[in-house]
Amino acid sequence: MCGIITYIGNQNALPRLVDGLRRLEYRGYDSAGVALLTKDGLWVRKAVGRVEALSPELIDPPETTIGIAHTRWATHGGVTEPNAHPHIDTDGNIAVVHNGIIENMDALKKQLEGEGVVFRSETDTEILPHLMNYFYRGDPLKAFTTALKQVRGTYGCAAIFKEHPDRIFVARNGSPLVIGLGEGETVVASDPQAIVAHTRRVVYLEDREIAVVTRDGVDVMRLDGTAVETSVELIDGDYGVADRRGFPHFMLKEIHEQPESIERCLRGRLDLNQGNARLGGLNMSPRDLIGVNRVINVACGTAYHAGMVGAQAIEAMARVPARAEVASEYRYRHPIVHPDTLFFAVSQSGETADTKGAVEEILLKGGQMMGVVNVVGSTIARTCGRGTYIHAGPEVSVASTKAFTSQVTGLLLFTLMLARTKNLSVIEGQEVAKNLQALPGLVQRYLANPGPIDDAVERLIHARYALFLGRGLSFPVALEGALKLKEVAYVPCEAYPAGEMKHGPIAMIDEETPVVAIVPNDSQREKALSNLKEVEARGAKLIIIHTEGDKELEELATVSLPIPACPWYCSPIISVLPLQLLAYRAGVALGRDIDKPRNLAKSVTVE
Ligand code: G6P
Repeated sequence: MCGIITYIGNQNALPRLVDGLRRLEYRGYDSAGVALLTKDGLWVRKAVGRVEALSPELIDPPETTIGIAHTRWATHGGVTEPNAHPHIDTDGNIAVVHNGIIENMDALKKQLEGEGVVFRSETDTEILPHLMNYFYRGDPLKAFTTALKQVRGTYGCAAIFKEHPDRIFVARNGSPLVIGLGEGETVVASDPQAIVAHTRRVVYLEDREIAVVTRDGVDVMRLDGTAVETSVELIDGDYGVADRRGFPHFMLKEIHEQPESIERCLRGRLDLNQGNARLGGLNMSPRDLIGVNRVINVACGTAYHAGMVGAQAIEAMARVPARAEVASEYRYRHPIVHPDTLFFAVSQSGETADTKGAVEEILLKGGQMMGVVNVVGSTIARTCGRGTYIHAGPEVSVASTKAFTSQVTGLLLFTLMLARTKNLSVIEGQEVAKNLQALPGLVQRYLANPGPIDDAVERLIHARYALFLGRGLSFPVALEGALKLKEVAYVPCEAYPAGEMKHGPIAMIDEETPVVAIVPNDSQREKALSNLKEVEARGAKLIIIHTEGDKELEELATVSLPIPACPWYCSPIISVLPLQLLAYRAGVALGRDIDKPRNLAKSVTVE
């Protein structure tokens, strides 16, 4: 959550900081701010709203080669200009930007107020410059570290001191920071997205590490003062400049990218002869795989829904007990971790704090932990050490679309591997491999002719309540469809397993209620059909996603959305497509901010 960018080098800092903020804006976009260090002291400008709202504030900026900047997603204190970062100490000597949460804020604030400090914001971050100032006796490093040692909680933070224009101090504890080493310039950011414009040579800061950053490089040490051997890594991966390629929104562009993104996830990983898949990053032999007796996918949000799909596929195809767990719950449940259980952390960003927390807990308990991650080099990918990248490419829209289908694809590849070692014959495996390979084409075919989406949108945008139903593999798809509609269009809705709906939600149905049902032609179709009759009898208007040629469902539907026929394990990847489009077009019809919906952030790095 929130984005940090700092620059020190031989170029004008401000345009580089603002460019960095734009690249990081998907992390949070309540407010933004910048602090430059000039020969006259600190020059600080802030604005409520998007990064673009900052531009009018940047009048007559001084030319300087050092500065820090921040884009915020509020945790402590409302969205106001005083609460925007950077925060400054009372004397105007030190500026700080911070991601994370200071848990002992109240005690520290009281202490500082006792010393006469007057706080100007409601944020926890403002503690930091005041504390640093309190400890400052001419040695900025000492002030920086002593202040951070008082803090309990999480931080990725950066500070500049008026009297020391040749260095920036940064620290990490639970909130990522990457240091980019350029030619005569050093850029620090909360994720590589903002670094790649400058360099691909990076040092990843680890928890409880601090760094003194200069134009010529970086000196990393632990918070306790001990030295750290750093290694410079080269970031690869597609961090291409976010470009809408002619689409009105990133969300729509990313929906339409799915044939390619799924193709990239599959590339080189299917063995059509052996009817098998290869995921080299797992580093698991067939002997290791045969020893897997349980699979648990931990994740949040959309990634959790992908984890649910993956778990069902693993159980059904590989006959290995599997389930998905909401990371924020799992990590604090004192989980039981068996050595024969394989854990997957599913995460687009690889930075989600709750997922990362669960990963750490599982690793601490000796669990086998793998990442299913999109962002190369992200914290979760590096913490897991093993896993698979889904190669969906940069996902900019806050509402996740192509990451979901690629996460499911990655988990299906693993399902095939596991199933082949357990109980799938070569013939059956060949069939699965062939069907997975056909997925990009099917997605393409659906997107070229998505059916009467706008008729369904018309019903949804005026609804006071909408219900999404699905059974089996279509239940997580229903959850994902409802999540998208909430995120992008703010339409009140919920998703239920179709069979469970009569145990409560049916009371919500009246003549006006749109019910979106996902009913592909699988083993649950008949049962789902009966459930739809139950809601239809109460007047619900049925929007049914069904397999092409299913006349019965077509007739039952008020709006019929046919999808291409596919095997049961591929259906979530196809049936989610109309739901993504529904949410998108409902959001457009209601005039919502599609790519940056209210209150959300792409990467949630706080608990
Ligand atoms: C946030 C985003 C969601 C995302 C979830 C998990 O809530 O708004 O779109 O699904 O985090 O993110 P991750 O990066 O771990 O997949």
